Amino acid sequence: MASTTAFSHHSPQAVYEQINAQFQLSNAQLVDLTRTFLQEFKLGLENYGHDMAMIPTFVTGVPNGTEKGTFLALDLGGTNLRVCEVILNGDKTFSLHQQKYKVTEALKTGEATALFDYLADSVDAFLTTEAASDTNTNSVIPLGLTFSFPVEQTALDSGKILTWTKGFSARNAIGNDVVRLLQDAFDRKQINVKCVALVNDTVGALLSRAYQCGGCILGAIFGTGTNGAYVEDVAKIKKIAGSAAASKGGYMVVNTEWGGFNNSRSHLPSTPTDNSLDRLSINPQYQAFEKFISGMYLGEIARGIITALIDSSPKPLLFSGQSTPVINKHYGIDTSFISAVESAWLGGDTRSDTIDLPFTELDNNAHSAGVKARLTAVRGTIVKDLGLKEDQVSLKDAAIIRWLCGLVARRAAHLSGVAVAAVLIQTGRAVPPGENHQELKDAAEKILVGVDGSLIENYPGFEAILRESLRYLVGKDAEGRVEIGMAKDGSGVGAALCALQALKQKS
Ligand code: GLC
Repeated sequence: MASTTAFSHHSPQAVYEQINAQFQLSNAQLVDLTRTFLQEFKLGLENYGHDMAMIPTFVTGVPNGTEKGTFLALDLGGTNLRVCEVILNGDKTFSLHQQKYKVTEALKTGEATALFDYLADSVDAFLTTEAASDTNTNSVIPLGLTFSFPVEQTALDSGKILTWTKGFSARNAIGNDVVRLLQDAFDRKQINVKCVALVNDTVGALLSRAYQCGGCILGAIFGTGTNGAYVEDVAKIKKIAGSAAASKGGYMVVNTEWGGFNNSRSHLPSTPTDNSLDRLSINPQYQAFEKFISGMYLGEIARGIITALIDSSPKPLLFSGQSTPVINKHYGIDTSFISAVESAWLGGDTRSDTIDLPFTELDNNAHSAGVKARLTAVRGTIVKDLGLKEDQVSLKDAAIIRWLCGLVARRAAHLSGVAVAAVLIQTGRAVPPGENHQELKDAAEKILVGVDGSLIENYPGFEAILRESLRYLVGKDAEGRVEIGMAKDGSGVGAALCALQALKQKS
């Protein structure tokens, strides 16, 4: 597979510095990106067809923790397919029982009916073997579907699929109502389940965090994909003007689909590695922001830099020019490698110090015993995950790997801070950098944010790095009021809360 660039005729030092510079975001760039984000929010709220879909979800209230009931939830769009039974206790607590099922590449990319049949079969298997509640009744079991792809939602329980993301491309799905596709599969198989609600995972994160904390304004995912949903003033959602929902006023949760921010890459600082990743991806020119941030792609970006350094001429700059099938394979390096490298380096410590270029202490063998121990741990991870032998990996190689994985992850976290800053500014909780408004919304209140996803969960210090750019963009005061909490099981709990809402509206 193609590697980044040929770094011929440069000193190693110049090569490292070139890569380093490519992956840095200046403060001016952060400000520019935030402004562009706000412009794209505005466009998306006006109509469809822009980079960010800004989807009205028809969720017009957030839970307060008193909600009660038992629901089934089906979650498609993360690493696994999950079926859960969720019991909301009505006191901010819940219990959840779940089973994961694998979605094969063949299902992701085959006929949509086969995929939806598989979803229905998984629910059936769960009900038969796992569900704790009595499912042998004649009454229909209500289910909430968490479907984490862009869907043009028309009601709590319907919406048509706009595009696939994250490696899915099932045929004959786009343009169809996803609830219908699932319900048809249940009906074909005479499974006594009714899909009553449809939510995105970001909306699930927002609702479940609100259930646990009594409020929340933003649900965000930093996992296989990235996206955010926030509570918007209905009057600003111009594309539903004139509808019954609009005439009621108030607030509605909007699913931004921010993974599609700046698909033209006119503002995102795309490196040659990013361009090559996009070109070779299943969806070139889409999900630009997601391709800088999320778990589906960070491992592949790191692999791009790694192969470029291995191939560097006249002298290889990594692993003495040796590689392995994992290193050579498109998407061969998983993002979990990046998290594992950082964890190995930190060794349980939370401080995130950097190894400074140009690695001269290593060249001169002048590093401390502590650094040596850390690099030895990193080498262990490299050996385990990339399939190299220990004697093929020098401590300098380990330092280079840790440095480049850090570059990729830090850029992702800083860009994530831009998205959060844009939501705070959009909802009147912060002002754009350089402006000094007096009338900030609820200026003393905590700003509650619910997050989920493998990246934020597993990459040490992701939140702290996100806060660096957030602080720069909205100021110390607003950033300090932001409370970021894991919305664990958000997809399951969020779907259950939405199912409850849907049933209430129908009764
Ligand atoms: C992708 C999907 C989006 C989802 C996100 C996180 O960006 O398009 O709907 O919320 O991944 O899973």
